[in-house]
Amino acid sequence: MKYTPEDIEKLNQQWDKVEPETMLRHFMEIYGDRIALSSSLSAEDQALTDMMLGINPQARIFSLDTGRLFPETYALLDKTNLHYGIKIEVFCPQTEALQEMVNTQGINLFYESIEKRHLCCQVRKLEPLSRAFRTLDAWVCGLRRGQSVTRNDMRRVEWDERHGLLKINPLIDWSEEQVWAYVREHRVPYNKLHDQGFPSIGCQPCTRAVKPGEDIRSGRWWWEDPQHRECGLHIKENYNSK
Ligand code: ADX
Ligand code: SF4
Repeated sequence: MKYTPEDIEKLNQQWDKVEPETMLRHFMEIYGDRIALSSSLSAEDQALTDMMLGINPQARIFSLDTGRLFPETYALLDKTNLHYGIKIEVFCPQTEALQEMVNTQGINLFYESIEKRHLCCQVRKLEPLSRAFRTLDAWVCGLRRGQSVTRNDMRRVEWDERHGLLKINPLIDWSEEQVWAYVREHRVPYNKLHDQGFPSIGCQPCTRAVKPGEDIRSGRWWWEDPQHRECGLHIKENYNSK
């Protein structure tokens, strides 16, 4: 089903300020197994995992394994599966495309230019994401407005025009403190790197620790301009009727 900008506006008015669990329950009932959480295993995604599995133990959760994640992130993936008795669906890059990129551009091409960085994100994240989307009509993300200047105008419900999917951001107006309060209260497993100065965690070569008080995403693609620090998963082809 395609939503118009007016539909999206109505949905945002309807779901504004509603508890994330209530909102999730509603959309999970509507979409059944055609909705899934896209999880990077961040604290936000772990909180959403806990909420969604509390609503339905069969809730679908998928993760994009770029092949360059931190060992701690892989450990958390296993730990989360064990903790909840689930199997997070893992999507990997296509071997041929990956080999071609690495053999022609180098293994660490992303440091050389924005174009090469985007190419790597395309091969390692976006193409696998498009395969994950084949069985979905709606996706849930752990985005928060407070994470970055690039996320200021995101809303709880968006229409992902490029993929023809409803995008749901239940924690969009949560603060970092609210996320951590949830994680602690519900004893949700989290990435140990968060205790070592990594507030935002992506691929290992593209993420570094930040100092206290620094912007939480300043350790992601730190060599690039802040406006460019998105990998394409959340570019603005969505409409949210704002
Ligand atoms: S990113 O675009 O810069 O990498 P970020 O790490 O802030 O995004 O995560 C924002 C949201 O994007 C996550 O809450 C999650 O929904 C989705 N996401 C990011 N990385 C992945 C991944 N590797 N696998 C699945 N979902 C992801
Ligand atoms: Fe490649 Fe870095 Fe993007 Fe990961 S974040 S896919 S390593 S460019």
